[in-house]
Amino acid sequence: MAKISASVYTSHVPAIGAAIDLKKTGEAYWQPLFAGYEYSKQWMKENTPDVIFLVYNDHATAFSLDFIPTFAIGTAAEFIPADEGWGPRPVPKVIGHPELASHIAQSVIQDDFDLTIVNKMEVDHGLTVPLSLMFGEPDAWPCKVIPFAVNVVQYPVPSGRRCFQLGQAIRKAVESYDDDIKVQIWGTGGMSHQLQGARAGLINAEWDNRFLDRLIADPADLAQMPHIDYVREAGSEGIELVMWLIARGAMADVNGGAKPTVKHRFFHVPASNTAVGHLILENN
Ligand code: DHB
Ligand code: FE
Repeated sequence: MAKISASVYTSHVPAIGAAIDLKKTGEAYWQPLFAGYEYSKQWMKENTPDVIFLVYNDHATAFSLDFIPTFAIGTAAEFIPADEGWGPRPVPKVIGHPELASHIAQSVIQDDFDLTIVNKMEVDHGLTVPLSLMFGEPDAWPCKVIPFAVNVVQYPVPSGRRCFQLGQAIRKAVESYDDDIKVQIWGTGGMSHQLQGARAGLINAEWDNRFLDRLIADPADLAQMPHIDYVREAGSEGIELVMWLIARGAMADVNGGAKPTVKHRFFHVPASNTAVGHLILENN
């Protein structure tokens, strides 16, 4: 049977992608940020899964105000990188896993989560920047990726509680897939940032670090936090953090298993307008 081996959490700031693509990672501004991912790249080499179930948000690239799925699973064989603003990044295309994605859709929808099934979709910085941070600049991504897009752009967005429950359903789906493959689940976006309005530029490092503590130690409690707390404390775009609860909900301890090992924890301010947070949790 398939297994969830680990979960990875990281911010996805588009300027990080631009810094990689324009060879600026050694500059004084960027160096401390990329130093925080050196361990992660080594860990990824030693722990490359067969498939990454990558939870991210689309930023009006594949979707728009015309069409707003709350939860969308990418079931295609491949996904082409695209982006708002900066244009498409020069990164490899993303190879999907239609069989596993279809199995997860079947299982999760039967478990009462009404996913949107997407057979054709472009993927933006929300998905490609985390891949670059964890894999560097390979000619091809070293594993398959199932994109899972969450609406955190246009209200109403899903609650942390719903995201956490969905993670549990995804775990059940993956672990009922009849092939001995290793799957990682990634939660991306966040941490505190606000890109608009009177509070643009807001960062709340203390709150972010408390979020990391709680995500590790008591995610079920963290999942009860209402939207207003994210927005008040972490800014309008801080709501991206609900996606981390999907990945955390899929870890073994949530379903009676052992606590995960914290392999890496990193926090850095700022990258562009965002506080960057990063965790690697391994199932035991
Ligand atoms: C920034 C952060 C984001 O999460 C995003 O989607 C766009 C921009 C920023 O910090 O610039
Ligand atoms: Fe974003």
